[in-house]
Amino acid sequence: MAPLFRPRANALAFVILVGILALLVAISVFAYVVYRSPYQTDAGYAPEQPVPFSHHTHAGGLGLDCQYCHTGVETSDFAGIPPTRTCMTCHSQEWTNAEMLAPVRDSLARQEPLAWNRVHNLPDFTYFSHRAHVNNGVGCESCHGRVDEMRMTVQRKPLTMEWCLECHRDPGPHLRPENEITTMGYSAEEDTPGHEWISHYGIHPDRLMECSTCHR
Ligand code: HEC
Ligand code: HEC
Ligand code: HEC
Ligand code: HEC
Ligand code: HEC
Repeated sequence: MAPLFRPRANALAFVILVGILALLVAISVFAYVVYRSPYQTDAGYAPEQPVPFSHHTHAGGLGLDCQYCHTGVETSDFAGIPPTRTCMTCHSQEWTNAEMLAPVRDSLARQEPLAWNRVHNLPDFTYFSHRAHVNNGVGCESCHGRVDEMRMTVQRKPLTMEWCLECHRDPGPHLRPENEITTMGYSAEEDTPGHEWISHYGIHPDRLMECSTCHR
């Protein structure tokens, strides 16, 4: 019986096979690069907002502490977005007729919250807690960047699993004192070694790498 493929056909089949393999590798490399890029991870994402609220003005210029508005950070999983009456503490006197504040006055009059668009958003199958970080020496800046310089709020960090794990693997060098948690542009005056922060806050780094810490 004659062979199914002649030698020439075998060589051709081999070349085609190698070609397909090379193409598959190229596609997965491309997919991986896109997957890791800021585009895919949402770093740089800054949605439109109903009011052009600026952290640059309020946290930077006026020097308001983050917790003046984000009251949940120490006690809850959520930092929280301030209600309209927090704005009105000042804006019933400041810029009272400004057109750009019309939605704020409207929200107060109708007793309906402003419809802010979320900037940061983890998938539902992950668990995150502000309290766990803010009370253990992790500053807002480590995860949100220089918010005091933002005219529009923007996501600065990728918030991928790999990014979370980079710190969870060895959190010590990322930690700071209790009274510097909301400080922007923090730089350590004295060089406290990482392991001293770990014992200072009583952190158990082994637990931080377990899947069930973030997927429960
Ligand atoms: C005067 C009140 C006020 C102060 C002070 C303030 N914020 Fe905000 N923050 C807001 C409002 C309102 C929003 C929702 C609109 C927006 O995203 O810009 C917001 C949104 C954010 C978001 C994005 C939330 C999301 O949707 O993912 C982050 C992060 C944030 N603030 C961090 C900070 C940090 C850090 C500080 C301190 C340096 C701070 N804020 C100070 C009012 C405030
Ligand atoms: C502690 C007082 C205070 C609070 C609280 C406050 N503001 Fe302001 N806001 C000001 C002052 C003062 C200015 C004017 C700043 C200037 O002239 O540079 C201002 C300016 C603004 C402007 C004009 C654009 C800009 O940023 O320069 C907007 C919009 C605004 N505020 C929205 C809000 C909203 C929304 C809230 C509530 C989440 C809020 N403000 C809470 C004091 C406050
Ligand atoms: C360890 C990282 C980390 C630190 C530290 C951190 N945040 Fe966040 N923050 C996040 C992540 C992640 C989200 C999105 C959470 C989600 O989608 O469930 C978020 C969401 C927010 C939001 C949106 C509303 C909410 O509660 O989800 C605000 C406002 C905010 N952070 C403010 C702050 C402020 C202010 C501080 C410091 C006092 C701070 N964050 C510290 C990671 C962090
Ligand atoms: C800059 C460092 C840093 C980053 C970034 C960070 N974490 Fe953490 N995380 C910590 C520290 C420190 C603790 C406190 C550990 C403790 O309580 O012993 C912690 C605790 C936690 C806890 C609570 C663990 C428990 O059971 O008490 C969860 C959940 C968590 N992190 C999820 C996340 C997720 C999800 C991300 C990414 C979106 C993230 N973290 C990013 C440093 C970080
Ligand atoms: C420190 C928190 C943290 C720990 C620990 C962690 N994850 Fe994740 N994981 C995340 C976050 C945050 C995302 C969402 C990433 C995104 O949206 O890009 C994620 C996403 C995933 C996904 C979806 C695919 C992907 O890569 O986006 C899988 C599957 C997953 N994790 C499995 C695991 C397993 C298995 C473990 C244990 C070996 C683990 N995770 C430990 C935070 C964590």
